[in-house]
Amino acid sequence: MITVFGSINMDLVARVLAIAKPGETVLSRRADSFFGGKGANQAVAAARVSGGRIAVAMAGAIGDDAFGKACRDNLAANGVDVDGIRIADEPTGCAFITVDERGENAITVASGANMAVHTAQVPGEILAKTSILVLQMEVPLAENIAVARWAKQMSARVIWNAAPVPAGAEKGAVADMLAVTDLLVVNEHEAITVAAMIGDNAGGDYLVAASRLAHTYSLTCIVTAGAKGAFAVDADGTQIHAAAPPVTPVDTTGAGDTFVGVLAYGLAEGRELQDAMQRACIAASLSCLTAGAQAGMPSRDRLEATLSA
Ligand code: RIB
Repeated sequence: MITVFGSINMDLVARVLAIAKPGETVLSRRADSFFGGKGANQAVAAARVSGGRIAVAMAGAIGDDAFGKACRDNLAANGVDVDGIRIADEPTGCAFITVDERGENAITVASGANMAVHTAQVPGEILAKTSILVLQMEVPLAENIAVARWAKQMSARVIWNAAPVPAGAEKGAVADMLAVTDLLVVNEHEAITVAAMIGDNAGGDYLVAASRLAHTYSLTCIVTAGAKGAFAVDADGTQIHAAAPPVTPVDTTGAGDTFVGVLAYGLAEGRELQDAMQRACIAASLSCLTAGAQAGMPSRDRLEATLSA
């Protein structure tokens, strides 16, 4: 089983010519709502490529409101086990997203119920069945660390997507997080920022940052680098690269989440890291061709068809 512990949001999205700078107002024709939240996105990405072969469970929190019900129903409709989702006193998380002409985005997340997620939502009987635990950074860090520690004691592999990097996180907490991580997934900026948080500026080079994080914490650091694909660096310095197929993106929102979910599934079904990364890169590219975080995430059949083409 793959267990995703993390955030669930409703995304409110406006397309703009250019993303507003501080103090500026820009107009958009309309706003659209899409299902989102890094945790929910990663669970859906894994469940779509699983097609029921390996169970995917989500633990998170929603509000007692229409957004929350819709988000939970959407997860269930995608084949995700939603028993670990609880209803909190806060409203469902909401992400305010602007997407520009090139498909790049800017996101503000109003966390709401996501801050009420706690470790007890992943009971021992679920962890006992979990081979891969997937975490991100949109729920409280202390809860993430606690569930990761428990998962490792139960012999699960921990994939930690350090996004978004929390401004002001304490060095000790970041070190605690890295100590319980098997695979750290970051983008180029996050690699440099996480390394800086533990006191290593890595000369501003994301591969140097990845390699230092991997060596110091005995983990594998995977850097997603957009059109350049993804790079993995092991504790012993071994590097792997997976190429991304060229696409003209409509919306890059959720591409990183697609990568993480498909990577988790690939590893859960026993693939080698290079193979799992390659499939994750292709799935992430496909996800950029449709507006919304989850709409473009490929099914198993679509991914296989793209791979054979
Ligand atoms: O990674 C994309 C996601 O980040 C969006 O779906 C949004 O909800 C934010 O959590």
